[in-house]
Amino acid sequence: MARKKIALIGAGMIGGTLAHIAAREELGDVVLMDLNEGTAKGKALDLCEASPVFGKDSHLTGGSVEDYTPIAGADVCIVTAGVPRKPGMSRDDLLEINLKVMKSVGEGIKKHAPNAFVICITNPLDAMVWALREFSGLPHNKVVGMAGVLDAARFRWFLAEEFDVSVEDVTAFVMGGHGDTMVPLTRYSTIAGVPVPDMVKMGWSTDEKIDAIVDRTRKGGGEIVGLLGNGSAFYAPAESAIAMAKSYLNDKKRILPCAAHLTGQFGVDGLYVGVPIQIGANGVEKIVEITLNKDEQEMFDHSVDSVKGLVDACKKIDPSLG
Ligand code: APR
Repeated sequence: MARKKIALIGAGMIGGTLAHIAAREELGDVVLMDLNEGTAKGKALDLCEASPVFGKDSHLTGGSVEDYTPIAGADVCIVTAGVPRKPGMSRDDLLEINLKVMKSVGEGIKKHAPNAFVICITNPLDAMVWALREFSGLPHNKVVGMAGVLDAARFRWFLAEEFDVSVEDVTAFVMGGHGDTMVPLTRYSTIAGVPVPDMVKMGWSTDEKIDAIVDRTRKGGGEIVGLLGNGSAFYAPAESAIAMAKSYLNDKKRILPCAAHLTGQFGVDGLYVGVPIQIGANGVEKIVEITLNKDEQEMFDHSVDSVKGLVDACKKIDPSLG
């Protein structure tokens, strides 16, 4: 069987990390594409030269987005092209510049890799994945946004630290848009299957500490931006997108929180918002419509409103999206 092909559009911090993981895990051959051809080619060659040491046979090549033909036939495209946040910026501040990037990337994918499973990481995520889908014209089930896996991973790490347990025993659940309005759901987050509120009742933690963790999860991206000083998180976002890509490539049918196109679920129609979905060989195979209580639904609706505001702003900037 021919090797799979992974196209990475954007060869910056996340793109380079994605290439490293994809090569080490031998997910397939990797094509790195960037506005800056030297960055794409340099990272691809550096990783080729590392491959004899780690002993994997993925082939990596780099190219300029002046010519998208190298992505032809890609099984998966992961999009990180655009600009990241600087300290003091919100993800929404990136909208105008990254919307233009989504247009060129979407057109490139439409022409050269229309059968790919596309994972968007560029921020502001929920609006950018919506715009990328519009520009690419791909079926909605083949275009998803990476945010929930990352937000849930942050939540899991903080819970693992608080409860002093293995990260492997923590599941966590985050819904809504990838911004400060996201909705971490403690009721659906567990320590080895025991819901977090029950752990609190057993005296393992307090409501105040869990509230602080929820707040830190919401602001998790900004915390890293503040520490780095010159960019945003890249290891955890890359790992999260790889988990999604593997579920598609290996038809694992994992249930992962991702930005998916909703057609009435959770009362939302025509927007991409973070919800639990099943990813398999057909892309988004199911949307898991969990029951939200009144407070959770209100928080989710508030988050959806902010996503809607960003999508409306995209339509104003580029009337072709109307
Ligand atoms: N086409 C292709 N690549 C582009 C384009 C374009 N039109 N515009 C910019 N790029 C490239 C840049 O040259 C850079 O190499 O995208 C890359 C982005 O990399 P970084 O600046 O290192 O950003 P990164 O940390 O990888 O984050 C990328 O993901 O999480 C989000 O907010 C983050 O929107 C940002 C994106």
